[in-house]
Amino acid sequence: MAQITKGIRAVLSHPAVYDFAQALMGAGRNRRWMQGAFFKARAGDRVLDVGCGTADILSVLPDVDYVGYDVSEPYIEKARSRWGSRGSFHAALLDADALGGLGEFDLVLATGLLHHLDDDEVRGLFRILIPALKPGGRIVTVDGTFVAGQNPVARWIISKDRGQNVRTPEAYAQLARESYSDVKGHLIHRNWFPYTYWVMEIGTPIEDLHQAEIHSGESETL
Ligand SMILES: C[S@@+](CC[C@H](N)C(=O)[O-])C[C@H]1O[C@@H](n2cnc3c(N)ncnc32)[C@H](O)[C@@H]1O
Repeated sequence: MAQITKGIRAVLSHPAVYDFAQALMGAGRNRRWMQGAFFKARAGDRVLDVGCGTADILSVLPDVDYVGYDVSEPYIEKARSRWGSRGSFHAALLDADALGGLGEFDLVLATGLLHHLDDDEVRGLFRILIPALKPGGRIVTVDGTFVAGQNPVARWIISKDRGQNVRTPEAYAQLARESYSDVKGHLIHRNWFPYTYWVMEIGTPIEDLHQAEIHSGESETL
């Protein structure tokens, strides 16, 4: 069983197979709903998509100024060939240096990313995003989660995910609250293809942290 699961995970690292699996799971319908309910991107918004995969999200976004980052070169290649000038696509780990040159964003998306990162990586990501948010800007995250009473099929599917850090809603939210004071969470039970999502809308950086980052930046240059 472990061998089969490992094999499926390896196959899913191919962009075309990943997109096909997503289509089978109804990802298009999901994304449309999430854009209306949570992302709420508006034409002209600056949108940063961390862990963008093949940037399929562009199929449901209006005409935004889109920047996608993903560590996978094949996913980014596919995104470039599919979306061309609809965005800029970067095959790299997003770090503070890269972010410094990108300006500020109205919306930062991390859909299906946090459960691939360990706690320190999530903390680091949330901290480096603080200066990348426009005043009033938001981060929206979407991940599978484990909760009591969820559909056992959903739980089984989520347990087979390639990401090794699926958390409870509280554990995801706690990591966000270390850097932001406004963290709203939504638990979504999808029935037609069983899955349990935890969506977070995150805003209002904790000012002290922002100041601390600016401060440490200043002292490094002295
Ligand atoms: C489940 S996919 C989600 C892709 C896309 N956001 C979506 O909703 O379909 C997770 C993506 O995160 C990327 N990823 C994993 N670790 C990452 C990291 N440290 N930094 C950036 N991207 C990462 C993977 O390459 C993969 O494309």
